[in-house]
Amino acid sequence: MARKDLLDISSLQREEIDLLLNQAVPFKELFTRSVKKVPALKGKSVLMLFYEPSTRTHSSFEVAAKRLSADVTNFDVPHSSVVKGESVRETIETLQAMRTDFIVVRHGRSGLPGMIARMTKASVINAGDGAHAHPTQGLLDAFTIKEVFPELTGKRVLIIGDILHSRVARSTSTILKRLGVEVAYLGPGSLVPKVGPENTRRFTNYEEAMKWKPDVVYLLRVQMERQDVQYFPSLREYHKVYGITEERLKRIDGEGLWLMHPGPVNRGVELCDAAMDYSRSLINQQVENGIAVRMAVLYWLKPGGEGE
Ligand code: CP
Repeated sequence: MARKDLLDISSLQREEIDLLLNQAVPFKELFTRSVKKVPALKGKSVLMLFYEPSTRTHSSFEVAAKRLSADVTNFDVPHSSVVKGESVRETIETLQAMRTDFIVVRHGRSGLPGMIARMTKASVINAGDGAHAHPTQGLLDAFTIKEVFPELTGKRVLIIGDILHSRVARSTSTILKRLGVEVAYLGPGSLVPKVGPENTRRFTNYEEAMKWKPDVVYLLRVQMERQDVQYFPSLREYHKVYGITEERLKRIDGEGLWLMHPGPVNRGVELCDAAMDYSRSLINQQVENGIAVRMAVLYWLKPGGEGE
């Protein structure tokens, strides 16, 4: 079964998650070939509609679409009529007239990609909406952990940081739990929701969380731009209490733990400099896998326009 849109992880069936993760494997194998392109989406058009900044998601969607031979157009929000007050509806109606097949959208407002999906025949892919969802990040994180632990059931992932504002925490913990991974949250009480998803342990103390024996520690970016109030005393204090300091890095190395971060990293806040060169860091692997997973998503979705 194929879908028109990918808006979140929660709406995916387990078989669909498996299908996407399996499909990403041969796409990743392509990266080692001299010709990295396949004609799967030749003649299709992908529009990148990013109202918020992005390095990894934007560039990996663009590379993914091009490796599938699709034509890619970047909608340049700062130089568009959006700055003259054009509404999202007007923008989408204009783009609909151009008969684009896929719209990859990032926006600060939760639920906006879903609204766009209802307005257009194009396949809409949520590339991150507010604090709601970042489904392709969840997929690439699951794919990356599965490369290290092919049998995921019973593995433990500790997500550390700003759970409250994080669409990554939401999507990644949802997919991991669907795949049988145990997930726990660690962070300041002000940033870890008291009522979380079922079966999610919640810690505010680093030592207590380590006693839970995670296999992977997943640091979230501190999202200063989404915090309208200060949730902790200072960034220096945050690093000391929740960050991977040099001392903690030695300990996680000694215990053989894997390290992940969705990027961009606030150095000296979530991770000390030395953590960037940690031998079990999966951060670069996450970026590489983002392309393969996004190829799988583009290949799988079926736009609802004419000729489909
Ligand atoms: N992980 C992530 O969404 O990074 P970007 O903001 O750079 O896309």
